[in-house]
Amino acid sequence: MSENIDSILQENRQFPPSAEFAENARIGSPEQLEALYRQAEEDYEGFWMQLARDEMDWHTPFTTGLDSSNAPHYAWFTDGRINVSYNCIDRHLATKGNQTAIIFEGEPGDIETLTYRQLHDRVCQFANGLKKQGIKKGDRVVIYMPMTPEAVIAMQACARIGAIHSVVFGGFSAASLKDRIEDAGARMVITADGGNRGGKIVELKAATDEALGKGCASIEHVVVLKRTDHNVGIVEGRDIWWDDLVAGQASECEPEWVESEHPLFLLYTSGSTGKPKGIQHSTAGYLLNSIMTMKWVFDINDKDIFWCTADVGWITGHSYVAYGPLATGSTLLMYEGAPNVPDFGRFWKICQDHKVTIFYTAPTAIRALMKQGDDFPNAYDLSSLRLLGTVGEPINPEAWMWYHKTIGKERCPIVDTWWQTETGSHAIAPIPGATATKPGSCTRPLPGIAADVVDKDGNPITEPNQGGFLVIKKPWPSMLRTVWGDDKRYQDTYWGEFDNRYYVAGDSARKDADGYFWIMGRIDDVLNVSGHRLGTMEVESALVAHERVAEAAVVGRPDEVKGEAIFAYVVLRGPRPAGGVDEALTKELRNWVAKEIGPIAKPDDIRYADNLPKTRSGKIMRRLLRTIAKGEKITSDTSTLENEAILDQLQGKA
Ligand code: WT7
Repeated sequence: MSENIDSILQENRQFPPSAEFAENARIGSPEQLEALYRQAEEDYEGFWMQLARDEMDWHTPFTTGLDSSNAPHYAWFTDGRINVSYNCIDRHLATKGNQTAIIFEGEPGDIETLTYRQLHDRVCQFANGLKKQGIKKGDRVVIYMPMTPEAVIAMQACARIGAIHSVVFGGFSAASLKDRIEDAGARMVITADGGNRGGKIVELKAATDEALGKGCASIEHVVVLKRTDHNVGIVEGRDIWWDDLVAGQASECEPEWVESEHPLFLLYTSGSTGKPKGIQHSTAGYLLNSIMTMKWVFDINDKDIFWCTADVGWITGHSYVAYGPLATGSTLLMYEGAPNVPDFGRFWKICQDHKVTIFYTAPTAIRALMKQGDDFPNAYDLSSLRLLGTVGEPINPEAWMWYHKTIGKERCPIVDTWWQTETGSHAIAPIPGATATKPGSCTRPLPGIAADVVDKDGNPITEPNQGGFLVIKKPWPSMLRTVWGDDKRYQDTYWGEFDNRYYVAGDSARKDADGYFWIMGRIDDVLNVSGHRLGTMEVESALVAHERVAEAAVVGRPDEVKGEAIFAYVVLRGPRPAGGVDEALTKELRNWVAKEIGPIAKPDDIRYADNLPKTRSGKIMRRLLRTIAKGEKITSDTSTLENEAILDQLQGKA
């Protein structure tokens, strides 16, 4: 990790908020923002304590702010008791019971809305159903659902009774589901008979059955939502239909008042080993930052229709679908399906039909939609939009400008939000009424988030545009608490690099002369494929699990739409295919990886070689493999290679 990181981007355009936007914004001037920074600077703990008192309803008020006695395990507001579901729903009932909480549109076009009162009743009934099945505080519940309101209801119901949910993205395979169930020791899976995506049914129940057929001994019950109504197998005694679970259940359920540090959820994400890590989040600290970022970054107000396109299977779908929008008493939109059904105008049609005001998506989606031309967005009335957001990877200036002009009509600020599964919510992002944005930069750290760029010795880099490690120097309320079942990995991965002084994000970044942050990419073996994090080792482990594969090395290569594409070098057991080509096997291996992990992990390219390039000490020369994957000229020293002839094979020349 010590190699110098050079910066590449040079982007000088600046876009200050319009006077009109600033006038109506919660934070409408640079001075107002500076005042917040000052408060956080002068009394860091007091700053967060005050917000925690003002922004959340407590059952038992806390008296303590940050507890660092067990560093690098930090705790916030420890002696308070609170409930997330109460804060997301109940506290709005008196004033907003009839306000729409959720607008849902299914891929087939069905629409459902839920008021806060209706949401309350459904969450309570489901929570009571969970309790009837014996689920209690601290139990782990896996949620493997389509993007329907029931996914949010299930999450909120878990939060209500203190059960710890672990949402598994519906695009993950049975094998991935099994690993996550087993790692968490979950007692229950909540799933559906299927979800609608891309005009097809996603077979969630079949995948659940497959996972449970191969292990998952801790699972006692499977709750099954009827969404598609096609035939699925039901295991007597184990499986319960959603409707039967809630039938006859009361629509009141006293929230479980948990300690601030009680784990709200686990969410598995990729790291640099083959095994995903269960990121564990807290209750109060997590909720606080999702509320603050809804207000600061999304400038949310009661008239907004807020649409974050992320699936609840990712952190974005936790903080900006299931929790943040509800905690701020807003109206959120959920869409079940793919952006191209029936055509690539679907997102824009939804914005028009439901009068979406804030739209938040990933650069990869923007690029994919941009590629389809302007006729799709131009066919719809997008005048309700007032703010746009992006997340997941650096946005290239070209896509930024298209988003700005064609979608935002040069009227809507764009908030480029940097954060991670581990940070819980936005950490570096513009304040839309106060920050002038620059295409490709996530601008400045939020108030109370001590992000910085340091060199390999941990010293802050003061010279502009010099790349280094992105770190956060003070614990903040919504940071992860540990890695479930592997606390050592938590300490090593996030705190080891600089002797427990800083949280290490795993990204490289530079700051420009204005103090704006430019994210340059991951410094570990983690790929960013369509805004989703994937470990190269995970794909490698999946490949070598195939009987014909002896060894595999996976690297990323730049891709116009996906950001990064997956490039796999494979050494087979037995002879290499003649000329390095075996289309049938390539297809089989790609499908194999899709089955082992999920379709997002399918290698885009597979190249066969007699062996992999290694240093004398046996380390795979990844930098060389990356150079080859990009199709660039090899300039590094290859003389240590045992068998230089493989270079031609790796390059596809032999
Ligand atoms: C990694 C975290 C946070 C939800 C989505 C991804 C990259 C994220 C940005 C951004 C540049 C970004 C980073 C980060 N990333 N947002 N605005 N600009 N890079 O969550 O799967 O935990 O991935 O995504 O590399 O470390 P995640």
